[in-house]
Amino acid sequence: MEMSSRHMSASDSVIGGVFGWVGPAEHQGPFHPLWDQNKHLMLANARSAIHLLIEFLRPANIWLPSYLCDSILLGLEEFKEQFNFYPVNSQLEISDLIWLNAVSAGDLVLLIDYFGWRPDTSTIDQIHATGAMILEDASQALLTDGIGESVEYSVFSPRKFLPVPDGGILCAIDDSLLPNPLLQESPDSWWYQAFQAVILRGQFDQHHGDRSWFKLFQASESAAPVGHYAISEFSRRALRFVFDYAAIASARVRNYLFLAEHLSEFAIHVQVPPGTVPLGFPIRLSERDLLRQRLFDHEIFPAIHWAVPSAIPMRFVESRELANEIMTLPCDQRYAIDDMRRMVDIILAELKK
Ligand SMILES: Cc1ncc(COP(=O)(O)O)c(C=O)c1O
Repeated sequence: MEMSSRHMSASDSVIGGVFGWVGPAEHQGPFHPLWDQNKHLMLANARSAIHLLIEFLRPANIWLPSYLCDSILLGLEEFKEQFNFYPVNSQLEISDLIWLNAVSAGDLVLLIDYFGWRPDTSTIDQIHATGAMILEDASQALLTDGIGESVEYSVFSPRKFLPVPDGGILCAIDDSLLPNPLLQESPDSWWYQAFQAVILRGQFDQHHGDRSWFKLFQASESAAPVGHYAISEFSRRALRFVFDYAAIASARVRNYLFLAEHLSEFAIHVQVPPGTVPLGFPIRLSERDLLRQRLFDHEIFPAIHWAVPSAIPMRFVESRELANEIMTLPCDQRYAIDDMRRMVDIILAELKK
């Protein structure tokens, strides 16, 4: 999976941001992604997948973590009367299970696999003891082993890990029923914007040039459609045929472990459990905004996952504090250890100032 690092030198590459198209010259697949093991529907994005499931199940209550991204809530606006929130602490764990006393049979609980980490089985069991169903949101855990184990549904968002413009995969595990909607194509204008962002970023990574991909990516993110929209043929085929998932997973773990060795005091997770494949390397520090700005000056672009949406009640203090201090260092398959070393050196030098 050194496929893209061959185009970059550790000194001048842009680290972070949308994935650029870097398909291999010759096909390698077919590959068998995790969702192949279950009944699944391939939609345009995870928002559409979550929306579709809720429309299908019509749960009386939807239980959401106090730490989540605004895009989930915006996509579910019409169900907001059913929202309830449960507490997530600064280690991204569920802080307590007292809220389960208010959960009823037939409710839906959304569990997020933050940064690639799955929740523990005892939490899953205790949620099930209420009679509620679980949707495991694996948008940040595309390559982690065991997604969907012991839950009813799971959802993936491949473009957070790979250079595809669209995709949101809804899986129904074991006997859980899958909706059977008539899917239409996503809007052409939105899809083309997202596609161009991926293609132009790929060209930029190889030959430099302009950065129009950045605005295109931002525009496509904020205009993401939510509805009965299918994944594009382009992304569907690429996911089946182009990406060597095992190689991508091991490059991510390798890079993560390097960062964990050098930046452990800021890390949320220092260890990577077997089978966990990280989205990125989340760190927490009070001078987050200043450091992030300095990293921008060095062409390193950590994302913030996430600012807490205004709909989250004020009582979830830990989630709010975490949102002010967290940022995600990129450690994905595009980068070699030299890139990780450059990032570490810059961070440690900046923090000493
Ligand atoms: C945990 C989680 N779930 C769902 C989504 C929505 O994914 P998509 O952009 O594919 O709709 C996101 C997007 O940021 C996310 O981080």
